[in-house]
Formats: sequence, structure tokens, C-alpha cells
Amino acid sequence: MNAHTPIMVSEVLAVLKPKDGGIYVDGTFGRGGHAQAILEAAATTVFGIDRDPAAITIGAELGRRSGGKMHILEGHFGDMRALLKSAGVAQVDGVLLDLGVSSPQLDDAARGFSFRADGPLDMRMSGDGPTAADYINQAGEEELADTIHDLGEERHARRIARAIIEARAEKPVMRTGELANIIRRKVRKSKDGIDPATRTFMAIRIHINDELGELEKGLSAAEHLLAPGGKLAVISFHSLEDRIVKNFLRDRAQGGAGVSRHMPIATEEKMPSFKLIKRGVIKPNAAEISVNPRARSARLRAAERTDAPVAH
Ligand SMILES: C[S@@+](CC[C@H](N)C(=O)[O-])C[C@H]1O[C@@H](n2cnc3c(N)ncnc32)[C@H](O)[C@@H]1O
Repeated sequence: MNAHTPIMVSEVLAVLKPKDGGIYVDGTFGRGGHAQAILEAAATTVFGIDRDPAAITIGAELGRRSGGKMHILEGHFGDMRALLKSAGVAQVDGVLLDLGVSSPQLDDAARGFSFRADGPLDMRMSGDGPTAADYINQAGEEELADTIHDLGEERHARRIARAIIEARAEKPVMRTGELANIIRRKVRKSKDGIDPATRTFMAIRIHINDELGELEKGLSAAEHLLAPGGKLAVISFHSLEDRIVKNFLRDRAQGGAGVSRHMPIATEEKMPSFKLIKRGVIKPNAAEISVNPRARSARLRAAERTDAPVAH
């Protein structure tokens, strides 16, 4: 129940190129699979961040056994600059983000992420803030529909939101099983056999944990923290996440002058703060997908920090 198979480890190491004496941030520590791989690749120091207290408990034990090589910080990777500062670190050689939830989070019914096993409708990665049940029982119909549509890319979002409103008028929706059944009664299984509840659960989870807002903050924090030549590697599992990473890197890897329409002379020279290590995404190979189906939708993007100042 506590296992999580890390995704695309060799591809991540090929990007980060851990070096002796280097300092690396694993912003999504989970069960530490990637962090361990970075520690084993060279004489590095790794700072592992996670917002999940269960990940922190296990990470702290690994940290104690690492001989001072692995340090665990509880918090959001969007706040990594402040977290690292409190540990006395102002600059690092690599940042990894392996987004989304871990297998132990999904597999533990009590965390409320899974529609397969019944549990309380929680879905918080950390123990703080409103739960999925709070949101499902309080949000207006239009807001629910927009969230399910935009974050779940669910075309039946309006029908599902209506069904939730009708169900909660009878009694509050408090269990993952109840929510899944409300959706299954309204939406048929697709031809590929994917459970009709999949997209709605993903949307609510992304919303509850502000995953897209965190990603924007994390990318910007990495831009500040990385030393020239430092590497950024981001694995995403969702097209909205991947788009944010792609647009961020495209913006930061683009140089050139900012030219005003009214004043056709270069106003401000913008130097690229990142250079792409590879154009486009790096995908897992077929062998990995065959042993770990979760890898199927993984997309890795990677870039190297230049010595230009932070773009914004
Ligand atoms: C896919 S798992 C990472 C697995 C990890 N790479 C490993 O090898 O075990 C994602 C982890 O990131 C954490 N996480 C997600 N978003 C976070 C955020 N904004 N700040 C801190 N941790 C976050 C989750 O709690 C989860 O443990």
C-alpha cells in the first residue's frame, strides 16, 4: 500500500544530469523514488518537498538514514523558495516536479481520491482546507459544471452538475461511492471502458488542491532558484498541466526585444532565461508502459536555466 513506482527515472536522470556536489529539489517527493535515484546518480544533496503528511513521515525516516544527503520539507512546491531559504539554500542545480497524486494516495480509500473504493469525499493532499465534500455540497451548479468541464475536460459536465445538485437536495454527498454512483447513473461507460466518474473525480481533485495554480507558482519559483546551467524537469499527466509547462518554457526560452507599437524601437531586451533541452515532450517507452500503465499519459518537459535574469 505504500509503494509508488517512479515514472521515467532514466529519462529524468538524463535531463537533470546529477553532478557531484550538486543540490537538487524534488518538489513532489511522494515515496522518494526519484529523490533516491538522484542521490544514487552522484554525490548530491536532495531537498524533498511534499504537502502530504504521510509522504513527510516516510521521507523523514529516509532522510535520517541518508547521512545528511536527503532533507525533507513539508509544504507546497509553489513555496519552494521560502522552504529552501529556511533551510539556508538560495540556489540549486536541478528541480524536478512529478505532478499529480501518488499510488499510495490513490490506493488509500480513506484519502477519498478513488471512485473504485468507497471512502470519505476528502481528496486533500495535505490535511488542510476544504474537502471535496465541502466543495461538492456548497458550490453553485454553474460553478460545479465549469470546474468539471474545464479541469476534467468532461463534455457531460452540465448533466453531472445538475445530478449532484439534485442528489444533495435530498442529503449531503459525503462518500466517494455516492458521488461515483450519481455520475454513473447519468453518464454511460465510454467505449474504451473508462469509468464515467474518472474525469469528474480528477477535476474536483485538481480544484480542491489548486494544482494548476501551484504549478504556475512552482515553475516561477524554479526560475528564481536555479543556478545558470541548472536543469528543470516536469512530468505531467494531464493536458492542462502540460500546456502550462509548455507555455511557460516557450515564453522563457524566447529571446528578442520587446517592441512597442507606438515607439518602434526596442524598449527592453529580453534574454531567454531557459533553453529547451529537447523541443516538445519526452514520452515513456513502451517497455515502461507495459509494466506500469500509470506511465501511459506521462509527459516530461525539460529545460536548462541560462544566466539571464528572471524574465518577470
Ligand atoms: C506523483 S507523486 C510523486 C512521486 C515521487 N516522484 C516518487 O517517486 O515517489 C506526487 C506527489 O507530489 C505531492 N504534491 C502534489 N502537488 C504538490 C504541491 N503543490 N506541493 C507539494 N507536494 C505536492 C503529492 O502529495 C504526491 O505525494
